Amino acid sequence: MNYLSTLNYGYRILKSNNIISHKLDSELLLASALNKTREEVLTNLNSTLDKKKFYKFKKLLLRREQKEPIAYIFEKKDFWKESFFVNKNVLIPRPETEIIVEEVLKLTDDNSSKRFLDVGTGSGCVILSIIKERPNSFGTAIDICKKAIKIALFNAKMHHLENKIKFININIDKFTNNKYDLIISNPPYIDDIKYKRLEINVKQFEPKIALKAGTDGLKIIKKLIFKSKELLKKNGKLVFEIGEHQEVKIKKLLMKNKFYIDKVCKDIRNHPRVIIATKLF
Ligand SMILES: C[S@@+](CC[C@H](N)C(=O)[O-])C[C@H]1O[C@@H](n2cnc3c(N)ncnc32)[C@H](O)[C@@H]1O
Repeated sequence: MNYLSTLNYGYRILKSNNIISHKLDSELLLASALNKTREEVLTNLNSTLDKKKFYKFKKLLLRREQKEPIAYIFEKKDFWKESFFVNKNVLIPRPETEIIVEEVLKLTDDNSSKRFLDVGTGSGCVILSIIKERPNSFGTAIDICKKAIKIALFNAKMHHLENKIKFININIDKFTNNKYDLIISNPPYIDDIKYKRLEINVKQFEPKIALKAGTDGLKIIKKLIFKSKELLKKNGKLVFEIGEHQEVKIKKLLMKNKFYIDKVCKDIRNHPRVIIATKLF
């Protein structure tokens, strides 16, 4: 078989399984099976592959056919300016979460020396991206999931930032250490009903604990706001991601807890996505 007929085979299989990105995915999977780049595959469509390579491709194709996300198959995902190791124990970093990084960079100078706390660090993509951009700052990253903390530490080592960030496996409820200039978080915020309606590739493969947050989706956000009162310095900032229809309720919660709301940032679909608030007292 040559690359072209192999790709056509892959396109057909993925398309019949309703995978919208069937073309791109097949190309990426074949490139991976051949240990080549996608461009190398596409510019050598008449080249042939042996049975062993075809079998490797079929195995990868089967995982994608069963809706496993490409990021988990390749165990990596790009976020902000870097690539991060991911597997089924951590959420796949989302582009909209980059708004947190963008806003934190606007709030801090290049040489500023701030103390950050990342609540629910997952792969560590947010805190690692920020500390890489603000090399005089230090971070603490916590997560309730032990396996996630191991992955975040692995990513920190990969980016040579392990001496800048402390990783702790703890529930935000129990965390009492220190005072921070900024608290950042992409917490779980999907309510139970919406969770049931999520796409199969998310529901079946990504960790439930990273997404699901009770009947109103605010279970962890409530804890985050409450704990941030204690963990932030006076005038410290809380920057966190929210769900599409949560803005009004969360603003009320913040005001009730004596936070000033600086800004609500929208994502590319024009949905409120990140809130920035200041601890007043
Ligand atoms: C939406 S994921 C975000 C992961 C990563 N920060 C990102 O943006 O890709 C939420 C993370 O919060 C963690 N988490 C859930 N409940 C928690 C709690 N009570 N205390 C600390 N971490 C929690 C989950 O394990 C998960 O890694």
